[in-house]
Amino acid sequence: MAVNPIDTEAQDLDDVRDASWAPALRAIPVAGIRKMVNLAASMEDVIHLSIGQPNFPTPRHIVDAYIEALEEGYTGYTMDAGLPELLTALAEYYSQRYGRTITEDNILITAGATEAIYLALTATSAPGRQFLVTDPTFLLYAPLIRMNGGEVKYIPTRAEHGHQLDPQEVIDNIGMRTYGIVLNSPSNPTGTVYPAETIDAICQEAAYRGVYVFSDEVYDHLLLDDMEYPSVLRHAVDLDNVMVASSFSKTFSMAGLRIGWIISSQGAIKKLRRYHMFTTTVANTPAQWAGIAALKGDRSCIDEMVQEYAQRRDRVVQLVSETPHLTGYWPQGAFYLFPSLPHGANADQVCLRMLQETGVCTVPGDAFGEHCSNSLRISYSTSLDKIEEAFERMVPWLAKQDF
Ligand SMILES: Cc1ncc(COP(=O)(O)O)c(C=O)c1O
Repeated sequence: MAVNPIDTEAQDLDDVRDASWAPALRAIPVAGIRKMVNLAASMEDVIHLSIGQPNFPTPRHIVDAYIEALEEGYTGYTMDAGLPELLTALAEYYSQRYGRTITEDNILITAGATEAIYLALTATSAPGRQFLVTDPTFLLYAPLIRMNGGEVKYIPTRAEHGHQLDPQEVIDNIGMRTYGIVLNSPSNPTGTVYPAETIDAICQEAAYRGVYVFSDEVYDHLLLDDMEYPSVLRHAVDLDNVMVASSFSKTFSMAGLRIGWIISSQGAIKKLRRYHMFTTTVANTPAQWAGIAALKGDRSCIDEMVQEYAQRRDRVVQLVSETPHLTGYWPQGAFYLFPSLPHGANADQVCLRMLQETGVCTVPGDAFGEHCSNSLRISYSTSLDKIEEAFERMVPWLAKQDF
């Protein structure tokens, strides 16, 4: 029997309101993605355009390094900042990539970018501090800021503008209480890549005004058009006011191995190391060895994945342009597109009914913010065949809807 996702949601909200739980838990919403995935799990013949992780196998040399580490007995704790050999490999890799000196002391290895973001935001958010966050945005940031009493000020972006961020709008929104700006490029859920001018303008102004820039760069290799990646690490004046999170999850299709990191000033890393000790102690040891193999081994696997994502992106953009009621744009990174339905449409209802009536699972916009309830996230982390089949079902169904 089909699970009623709304009942599940009500149950969860009751749990959170229970007085025995810490008030901080109330800042964590019921993930909109889960509602859809729960329902999809109870159905047959579902095509998922909802997946948030790569659908490629982890490259063989990385898997081998993981197994070898286990066999060689690397199953104990590492140093709290991470495996020294991985810190050195990351320091070399970043220094070379962005032409700025990054040392081992600027890096902390974490359990995926998720822990890096958790540490960065919860270690700095506090009552009276405001964080500027794009809307839509990856769903972790706002709850983590609010959990510790910080305030979120959303900067909406739109499909008509390719979900680009206007740097002047960000700058105009910096006020007396603004403590930090959260960036994510390429973005989940939009696939938008901010150009160098945007990153540069924000970094320069933030440094001048003493505002932190938190940059989630987990998709930093998934650039689908020939362009140099405008990392905050390339454009920041120095590391004093920036925290950059990234991981191996997307680049090397190793999300389940859970290795990420945070890069910042030596002073900030020292503080975050203490917090990390009290959060996860250290990241998974054999997976850190696998990470070294990823950095030092043959990286042609990345080009192959990017080529495949680019092909799918081209096709998805074309299909969206031919789909009634959807407005798309040209996303340049990650594996997402966040098209919008006509103004006033309730994507929550549309996605739910579309799943029930066509078996195509997408994610409604309100999972990612407060100003995008007429949008939906399409992930093309699935085969071209599945993508074609999904649109064969979606197009006639959407054509029949009245908005
Ligand atoms: C923007 C963004 N940041 C962070 C993460 C989490 O990455 P990790 O697997 O390294 O924790 C994801 C995963 O979907 C993501 O999309």
